[in-house]
Amino acid sequence: MTDTVLAPRPVEDSRVEMTQIVLPGDTNAHGTAFGGQVMAWMDICGAIAAQRHCRRAVVTAAVDELEFVEPIKKGMVVVLRAQVNMTWRSSMEVGVRVESENPTTGERRHALTAYLTFVAKGEDDRPVAVPPVVATAPADVQRQGDAVARRQARLDLRAARARRGEPVQG
Ligand SMILES: CC(C)(COP(=O)(O)OP(=O)(O)OC[C@H]1O[C@@H](n2cnc3c(N)ncnc32)[C@H](O)[C@@H]1OP(=O)(O)O)[C@@H](O)C(=O)NCCC(=O)NCCS
Repeated sequence: MTDTVLAPRPVEDSRVEMTQIVLPGDTNAHGTAFGGQVMAWMDICGAIAAQRHCRRAVVTAAVDELEFVEPIKKGMVVVLRAQVNMTWRSSMEVGVRVESENPTTGERRHALTAYLTFVAKGEDDRPVAVPPVVATAPADVQRQGDAVARRQARLDLRAARARRGEPVQG
């Protein structure tokens, strides 16, 4: 691993904006976006942000709780925005915000936000170190602090599952 590869990188370099349109094949029986499809789009958008940050292959290690705030109707534009909030050794927390955009009025509404953890893998398929992410804008600094608290909650959950004898990764 060279110093260049692990040089700190700004949050901005990881940002991704992705748009989709909810076609009939993307809907559920209620005529609104199928949640699994939205989750797939979020996973792709988040993975691109993680890859942009570390320029490595990444895998999704975990997805925090998902709460669909409101349905996205057929024909709406779905705007997904992702960025790396925080990095540790090989893992990165990526925040993905999803909005629905009315194609005729342009009105945007928040549909959901989720936090995904991606792990960078080296050519040997093992987790590999990623560059630290640098936040400067106050909102990004806030996200970084929140990400630290969320990671602790994830680790606590894993430890509790291990104590109960439930399967955990690793
Ligand atoms: C995620 C995975 C790479 C972790 O590998 P591992 O051999 O357990 O590696 P480690 O225990 O060394 O953990 C590596 C990193 O992953 C993090 N990690 C592992 N499981 C995690 C979880 N459930 N939530 C958050 N982070 C997790 C660790 O905290 C560690 O982070 P760090 O290096 O920044 O400290 C491995 O379990 C895996 O490949 N899982 C399947 C991924 C997959 O198939 N995803 C869907 C398709 S992309």
